[in-house]
Amino acid sequence: MAEFTLPRNSKVGTGATYPGPPGAKTPRRFQIYRWNPEDGANPRLDTYTLDLAEIAPMVLDALIKIKNEVDTTLTFRRSCREGICGSCAMNIDGTNTLACLKPIEDIKGDVKIYPLPHMPVVKDLVPDLTHVYAQYQSVQPWLQADSPAPPDRERPQSEDERAKLDGLWECILCFCCTTACPSYWWNGERYLGPAILLQAYRWLADSRDEKTGERLDALEDPFRLYRCHTIMNCTKTCPKGLNPAKAIAEIKKMMVQRR
Ligand code: SF4
Ligand code: SF4
Ligand code: FES
Repeated sequence: MAEFTLPRNSKVGTGATYPGPPGAKTPRRFQIYRWNPEDGANPRLDTYTLDLAEIAPMVLDALIKIKNEVDTTLTFRRSCREGICGSCAMNIDGTNTLACLKPIEDIKGDVKIYPLPHMPVVKDLVPDLTHVYAQYQSVQPWLQADSPAPPDRERPQSEDERAKLDGLWECILCFCCTTACPSYWWNGERYLGPAILLQAYRWLADSRDEKTGERLDALEDPFRLYRCHTIMNCTKTCPKGLNPAKAIAEIKKMMVQRR
């Protein structure tokens, strides 16, 4: 039987332990993935104990507390703190989500925090998004229309046309869905993945865009679109409650309808 093991340098070891404040009434342990490309060491899980009475309720609040007061070397992305920027996406308690929207009290036992899965890591909880941003650029995510706009500046939409963009424009490009997708794990070099395909559909669904044919041509490929096997992990994990699997199905439907 084939046996799969991680390469020696990716095995995650046990790291440092930081005890909580003496006399903490509500102590809670956070186990956090650490990796620094500059020290040549394997990744490790560091354990920090915090007193929940001293921090605000979200996982991001705990990370900020650790960074500010316990261990300044901990590295993670965040910006808005309210589920808008998508920067704080990470794997918490086994699920990809936004640290700023994830209440600590929803997690039983130790809070385990890893970077988004199957992405190269820049450091600690920061994934390298270079490739997925290049994929985003490849779908040309902007309005393309050659006909002059009536009147001079605006391209009006009916209420129904505008409603077709609901469930699409809300995507914050956090990539929780893409990094939860097994097809993307195995074929991410060529498969665009759910976040980028949802974005591609956002322009296909826009009544003002005039490049539908060209956009579909660019997606007509055994890998870019058709690696989606409707496993639905993407939709289950989206912290904004969107449905990328449905957007992918809509693109496939448009492909069939134009034949
Ligand atoms: S439905 Fe498609 S995009 Fe979503 S997780 Fe499954 S294979 Fe990936
Ligand atoms: S569809 Fe949801 S999970 Fe995927 S990138 Fe957009 S907001 Fe994030
Ligand atoms: S910090 Fe912006 S989405 Fe979490």
